[in-house]
Amino acid sequence: MDHVYPSNPEFVAKANVSGMDAYRALYERAEQQPEEFWAERAAENLHWFKKWDHVFEWNPPFAKWFVGGKTNVSYNCLDRHVNGGRKDKTAILWEGEPGDTRKISYGELLRLVCRFANVLKSRGLKAGDRAIIYMPMIPELPVAMLACARLGITHSVVFGGFSAEALKARIQDLGAQVVITADGGWRRAKEVRLKDAVDEALAAGDCPTAKEVIVYRRTASQIAIKEGRDYWWHELEEGMSEECPAAELDAEHPLYVLYTSGTTGKPKGIMHATGGYLLQATMTMKWVFDIQESDMYWCSADIGWVTGHSYIVYGPLSVGTTTVMYEGAPDTPAFDRWWSIVAKYKVNIFYTSPTAIRALIRQGEQWPEKHDLSSLRLLGSVGEPINPAAWEWYHRVIGKGRCPIVDTWWQTETGAIMIAPMPGAVPQKPGSGTLPMPGVLPQIVDLDGKPVEDGKEGYLILRRPWPSMLRTIWGDPERYKEQYWSRVPGVYFTGDAARRDSDGYFWILGRVDDVMNVSGHRLSTMEVESALVKHPAVAEAAVVSKPHEITGQAVCCFVTLKKGDHDPRKLGVELRQWVAHEIGAFARPEEIRFTDALPKTRSGKIMRRLLREIVTSHTVAGDVTTLEDMSVVTRLAAQQDED
Ligand code: WT7
Repeated sequence: MDHVYPSNPEFVAKANVSGMDAYRALYERAEQQPEEFWAERAAENLHWFKKWDHVFEWNPPFAKWFVGGKTNVSYNCLDRHVNGGRKDKTAILWEGEPGDTRKISYGELLRLVCRFANVLKSRGLKAGDRAIIYMPMIPELPVAMLACARLGITHSVVFGGFSAEALKARIQDLGAQVVITADGGWRRAKEVRLKDAVDEALAAGDCPTAKEVIVYRRTASQIAIKEGRDYWWHELEEGMSEECPAAELDAEHPLYVLYTSGTTGKPKGIMHATGGYLLQATMTMKWVFDIQESDMYWCSADIGWVTGHSYIVYGPLSVGTTTVMYEGAPDTPAFDRWWSIVAKYKVNIFYTSPTAIRALIRQGEQWPEKHDLSSLRLLGSVGEPINPAAWEWYHRVIGKGRCPIVDTWWQTETGAIMIAPMPGAVPQKPGSGTLPMPGVLPQIVDLDGKPVEDGKEGYLILRRPWPSMLRTIWGDPERYKEQYWSRVPGVYFTGDAARRDSDGYFWILGRVDDVMNVSGHRLSTMEVESALVKHPAVAEAAVVSKPHEITGQAVCCFVTLKKGDHDPRKLGVELRQWVAHEIGAFARPEEIRFTDALPKTRSGKIMRRLLREIVTSHTVAGDVTTLEDMSVVTRLAAQQDED
């Protein structure tokens, strides 16, 4: 029997959606009359300069929503609140890692955004151009995003933890005209030197489109300024007007591209459009986070990932809430930093990842106990399956048994939350995302697309396009078709395995492809393999994930070396560092194992399944008859015991 947690009656009474019947009514309406359903939501919840001609256009697998409609994300997030009585309401409550703080009202945020939009304009940038944003978690990051959105410049935020190599690949793929960055940011009391990485990415002239770099001064450390290419943000802003009209953009105008790992070594540029994206980010703020006018809302993610795009910036600002932003790490200066922020700002809604929860569990309950967490009324989880034990801890120690927990399943590609409980309506079960959002039609199927029975594991697919769905992979529509719409023809393939229980609740089990999930960050095995084989000593590499107590999964590499004299201990350290340099610190392998050969099929494919079994169970089972050299596997498995 699964343990069921109904939300407390006080919460239910005040919720935006109260009771199962209310949820069912919304869900059924969206299922039966999707166009009418979304049209009503779009008219009620967003501002349009011009109404759409028709709601939905489907040339499989390419979707368009609110065709012919004109809107602007920045206008929806700022101007309409300033005009509608929220001018002095706090939009962003920011806390820097060293303890510096800023409180920015909607009125002030609009002025900041307009002024920076005018800077972009003055550099000759216009709708249709692209900007790479590589910044720390400071208010100027959302300012830059919203300024781009205001003008129709498609932005791509690159997480500050990515290396110069990864940054370069993204600048190139996007063909960005400008890079917006900062000298650095703070993490664990150390400076993350962002501008150095930008210099490295642009050094060899490998990014010919990126003619200019705009640098915000955050850490005030010494950086190089290249004449005629690099400009200080504050200098460009001098004398700029604080007014800038929002462009009336097509509902399908590309708002942003966010790169994420696929099954090959090359990251995919997930492209999101304007109207449908904002609508679903807005609706899920109301449905899942039950946002109310007086709420203090905090999502602890980094804006460099999709969670931050939809649930720190666009969703929260679209509904006119106060969004808390924190620059640094949860353990700096001590393990109670988050709880001190919750208490200080009287946070009502808190959204984080299972990895973070597990890391905090390990430190003990004394840290949250030091602070008054009574302001909290709702907790959220995202990024990977949450193990029931972590769920129960979160519920008991942080939520004091009083706060519902919304376990939200979604992806970079989906743009917004797809499966999660509406907390005033749907009783929760630890470890289950529970039920789908209105307009989302998930199903568990086999590879032929045949539904599997409740309780049985299968592939999670989505049967129907939704407004915030990715529109394509930037510059590669074929890959978009092939990745998402071909594995099971005609439906969206999520890449996740899942099962549905007899209450109709969904349980996500994890990826079925070569995508790993390390601390809720997506990483492909191929990406790490490509990084490894670039090293002069490496002949071949195979990468698999293994379960990890804190990060969910950890990267484990099997490496064969070229002939030569190698000190495996030294080389192991070097290769871990190498991967961090090639991709980013979060990709640093947990383990490097040297071997004289890799297990392969007769056709030469590396048998990752076997390697996975070796790292997880230490034994090898199942069908291995296609193996070329069984002795390799035996040796690899045996090596475990020697370690
Ligand atoms: C993959 C998407 C979307 C926000 C952050 C991750 C896994 C995400 C859950 C959850 C179980 C989850 C899936 C998914 N995932 N949320 N609540 N329960 N698994 O975005 O980097 O695009 O990764 O994260 O495997 O496919 P992403």
